[in-house]
Amino acid sequence: MRRKIILLFILVYGLIHVTSAQLPVIPRPESVEILQGVFTLHPDVKVHGSERLRPIAGLLEVALRSLPGINTSRDTETAVELKIDSLGKKEAYILSVTPQQIRITGNDEAGVFYGIQTLLQLAGQSPVIPACRVTDSPRFEYRGLHLDVGRNMFPLSFLKKYIDLMAYYKLNTFHWHLTEDQGWRIEIKKYPELQRVAAYRNETLIGHKKDSPHRFDGVPYGGFYTQEEVKELVRYAAERHITIIPEIEMPGHASAALAAYPHLGCRGVEYHTATFWGVFDEVFCAGKDSTFLFLEDVLDEVLALFPSRYIHIGGDECPKTRWEQCPHCQKRMRDHQLKDEHELQSYFIRRIEKYVNSRGREIIGWDEILEGGLSPNATVMSWRGEVGGVESARQKHRVIMTPESHLYFDYYQSLDPEEPTAAAWYTPLDKVYGYEPYPRELEPEFRPYVIGVQGNVWSEYMATPEQVEYMAFPRILALAETAWTSAEQKDYGHFLGRLRQQEALLKSRGVNYFDRYEELTYAWEKNTLTLTSTLPGAQIYYTLDGSEPGVKGLLYKAPLRLEKSAVIKSRLFREGKPYGKVLTQDFRLHKAAFREVKLRHLPKPAFNPASPFALVNGLTGNARYNNGEWVGFSGEDMEAVIDLGKVQPVSGLGINILKYHWQRMWEPTTLVFYLSEDGVNYKEVFQTREFPENGINAVRAKIPSTRARYVKVFAQNKGIIPAGEYGAGGKAWLLADEIYVD
Ligand code: ACM
Ligand code: ZN
Repeated sequence: MRRKIILLFILVYGLIHVTSAQLPVIPRPESVEILQGVFTLHPDVKVHGSERLRPIAGLLEVALRSLPGINTSRDTETAVELKIDSLGKKEAYILSVTPQQIRITGNDEAGVFYGIQTLLQLAGQSPVIPACRVTDSPRFEYRGLHLDVGRNMFPLSFLKKYIDLMAYYKLNTFHWHLTEDQGWRIEIKKYPELQRVAAYRNETLIGHKKDSPHRFDGVPYGGFYTQEEVKELVRYAAERHITIIPEIEMPGHASAALAAYPHLGCRGVEYHTATFWGVFDEVFCAGKDSTFLFLEDVLDEVLALFPSRYIHIGGDECPKTRWEQCPHCQKRMRDHQLKDEHELQSYFIRRIEKYVNSRGREIIGWDEILEGGLSPNATVMSWRGEVGGVESARQKHRVIMTPESHLYFDYYQSLDPEEPTAAAWYTPLDKVYGYEPYPRELEPEFRPYVIGVQGNVWSEYMATPEQVEYMAFPRILALAETAWTSAEQKDYGHFLGRLRQQEALLKSRGVNYFDRYEELTYAWEKNTLTLTSTLPGAQIYYTLDGSEPGVKGLLYKAPLRLEKSAVIKSRLFREGKPYGKVLTQDFRLHKAAFREVKLRHLPKPAFNPASPFALVNGLTGNARYNNGEWVGFSGEDMEAVIDLGKVQPVSGLGINILKYHWQRMWEPTTLVFYLSEDGVNYKEVFQTREFPENGINAVRAKIPSTRARYVKVFAQNKGIIPAGEYGAGGKAWLLADEIYVD
């Protein structure tokens, strides 16, 4: 009996061992079976396939020959056989490796191509490939990656590398963002001024947009892709089963086009290609027919270059300021009984859609095209969260999920203050990986309208291909797994295991990827700090006195409960050697810390999704406003009352205010501190209107010792951003953090 149990145990264990065995492939395949033996590749490997598969076979041969470490000692002829056979699902494939042969069966050419990518990932890691059977197919039909070449442009050779890497990870759509305020990047033969004027700007902003005053490099910048180059890239991508969707932005983000052809703007004045980043008021005039004639001509040339089903027409971030003042636009609204400028935008998009449809294509637009009514056949890219996607799917429109919260790769991937300047926010790898493309609130019957996902790479802060790679990798790999792999098969720990093995592949392909995706991260729960890392074999050492952590210092074993103020520095170590950067946190225990806070107006979740208690948690917001400590009020005042628990002497009050007018973050018009013993009668003890810093303003007030139980802080929001300032007419943000009481 006992022997039988042991035997059973061995059997079951063996079974588990085999089925859980995995190949270091990203995205994770549907099913992997590891078999007995290995297949060893050698340099003369022959690839067989039907005539139809010749181009793919050719790519595979070239790719295999270029791999390092292919075993040259064998001289027997071995073969990779490619074939097409119905597998019942588009893009599906079966990869079968035996000691004698490799066979890839695709449902279609794309399926064969993806089987090859799986093989190449294996071969890239070792010429000795385990015998196996991989059955695989994608979760989503649309697996997209975007690149903005308007703000910064990149050589065609880099775009090819980008396409190659996309294909390697089974992405199939390249969204090429070709026109922007800062540059028009596609040759349009009918309009030479686009090449002469719109493709160039006089200079470029130095540093981040939030810095003030703005400084410029004084160096003209520009260029464009010729139609021959465009054709070359479209062909190159098609060979790799990637469709390129061009984006021609309208009606907003049009400064460069207006600089070339001023009559296309409402005011017809002298316009300039933008030299810094943001949303600009100068947009295409929706009232003049000449605008539509121009755009139709442009689209004619674009459609001839790109065979894609979809053409992206932008539609995002179009301020209505000029339209409100423009006689042409206002006449259009009257003539068509449009009740506001949103309906005028809808008119604009519908008119363009009609044109694109008449040419046998369909439009994609950013989710702003919902405003004023969605045009009949449009596909929507949901970028401002998921609301636009949910709304569009319910209206039975196709949707591509690309929420900036999870899938914008121009956002910071680390909170390390030394990270190169990026656009904003904090989107580490695990957050990207965790994205589920079916929004929770979307009813199951509308799910089929969600055709896929896309990652976006806006290039304001990416001047070089190396920086694009640094920001996009490995987050692209997480995106690819979300796009391809079923939700049930996704597992972050498992992904990390394969990613670690993929690093060699990224290195061998010369990808400048961000390699600290397993850095030290933290969570605070009141005064308790938990430090974590996924880095295998790592230990965390820390100090509490601000000194540099080392292996002779304190070893982190359990969450740290801090009973007094401390500067905590922590760092990962592996085999005694430091890894990554030092994480520094300044924790201050003061009289208001962890006390109850009551707010008259609730903050918006943009900066701190967790709670207003960030105001009294002993931790401060950072200058990049992405560490979850800032509490943001949109257009509304902050009125906070803190209950200190009992009457006690108070002699110091403080608060941090963040001011970046270029980010629509305004200092309060007045800031007042009040104290009270009973919570009814308050006495003003300090007031200021001085916030001189562009950045963090640390207000610290020393007052004569006063007995109080309640502290009230009133900060008056600027309200509406004044004319002449960035974002004029919109709501100002008021950002506050840590209310100190001593
Ligand atoms: C966008 O990020 N403005 C689509
Ligand atoms: Zn107009």
